[in-house]
Amino acid sequence: MAAGLIGLGFAQCSYLSPMPTETAASLSIPANTLLRDQGVVPAAGARDGSTLRADAPAPSQVQGEPRILFIDQSGQLGGAEICLLPLAVRCSQQSEVLLLSDGPFRDRLHAEGVKVSVESDARIQGIKKDRMKFGALAALPGIWRQVRMIAERAKPFDMVFLNTQKALILGAFGRALHGKPTVWHVHDIVSREHFGRLHLTLIKWAVKVGVDHVVANSRASADALIELTGLPRSAVPVVHNGVDMTRFGDDADRASAVIEHRREALGLPRNAFLVGLFGRFTHWKGQHVALDAIARVPDAHLVLVGDALFGETAYAQSLRTQAETLGIADRVHFAGFQHDVAAWMKAMDVIVHASIQPEPFGLVIIEAMAAGKPVIASNGGAVPEIVRHGENGMIIEPGDASKLAVAINTLKREPEIAKRIAAQGHADAGQHFSIDRYLQQMTRVLFDIAALAHRSGVPETTGVIENTAASEARLTR
Ligand code: UDP
Ligand code: GLC
Repeated sequence: MAAGLIGLGFAQCSYLSPMPTETAASLSIPANTLLRDQGVVPAAGARDGSTLRADAPAPSQVQGEPRILFIDQSGQLGGAEICLLPLAVRCSQQSEVLLLSDGPFRDRLHAEGVKVSVESDARIQGIKKDRMKFGALAALPGIWRQVRMIAERAKPFDMVFLNTQKALILGAFGRALHGKPTVWHVHDIVSREHFGRLHLTLIKWAVKVGVDHVVANSRASADALIELTGLPRSAVPVVHNGVDMTRFGDDADRASAVIEHRREALGLPRNAFLVGLFGRFTHWKGQHVALDAIARVPDAHLVLVGDALFGETAYAQSLRTQAETLGIADRVHFAGFQHDVAAWMKAMDVIVHASIQPEPFGLVIIEAMAAGKPVIASNGGAVPEIVRHGENGMIIEPGDASKLAVAINTLKREPEIAKRIAAQGHADAGQHFSIDRYLQQMTRVLFDIAALAHRSGVPETTGVIENTAASEARLTR
């Protein structure tokens, strides 16, 4: 660990709430662990690796918030976008969001006062993360146009922030053109379970040639990236996502009369045992597993909240067919995509997460905990970083419909167990996964990067963020 931490000497922007000292220290950027010195990134541009000292003068010009160009590939409201939203709002005085496709995310950003623009290219939209083939080479002219466009748009900013992997590839390959410190917020587990070989190779090269800093949404995502790229563990800090406890966690909202009223307003049965699954319709999110499970729990109803956001309409249709075939269509409610997820969650008895592939984080899990509902989650990815089986939730093996049915039945028959788990989940969400903690840690990372870039006196920042053992223990438990 570096003897000095630049974050300690950095003039904080007024909109940042005070940071607990140990968190600030653990997420600061030691200058003696330069990414390019790790042998991961070509040595060109590497500096001497001298240690930044806490007693060094604070960067005089970097007084306000850094100007950040946030880039996101999607106009849809997926989890990665829902994470970017509060961060972009927090930084909205100087920063902007550039979307690479249009959709409701633009309206949300705009409504929250964030400056947002859209530059889309139809040839790139068709490329899917698990099916990238060499045929995607046809998209090369579109890719090149986007790379140049991003490089041009980045010029007036201090930093480029790439949200998710398609933005990574387009943004990173343009770094040589714009020369700005470039951060990638990793929301995916970059393994063969989720990505094709060609796509993984591209990600690896994008990180090598055009990323200065990464931040991962979980230990699981960080570990997969380390495995893919050979980055040292210290170069990949973990900042867990956060949930707005005030929106999800109001106690008064959980009285049974309020819940019944809410169910009626939402068109749900007032007195049935309701199991909710929240998430976009795509095979790996496992809605079909939840259907199989609910068929084994007489009287329980399944509420599927979400929709096919990225063209998976065939899967969405197959779920309706499956419900018919299983003879449970009258116990399955397709709610469609909902904006007020908190209200829908509070109407449930149990919330399940049924992903059959490792979940990179799983915002819906912490949202369910914040809403005071017992959550059953599928093992893998970040789930063990959030859920302790039998304490603040239940964990089942992915794809195991009969075990999921047993877990649902347990919570149905044993309301005391359900209540205890829900209460612990709610407490843990507030303590470990609040939106305030997330914003403090993310802004600290970004401000440290800006300060490091400024202090180095060169636009090409090459530092990495180090996570101490203590911070890893705290962040990932
Ligand atoms: N969500 C939503 N409306 C819906 C279903 C889901 O706003 O109808 C939100 C959900 O509340 C969560 C996000 O979509 O914030 C999904 O994020 P998660 O990390 O669970 O999964 P992702 O889709 O990003 O893989
Ligand atoms: C991605 C992941 C999801 C995560 C979200 C926000 O969409 O699939 O697990 O919660 O990003 O980080």
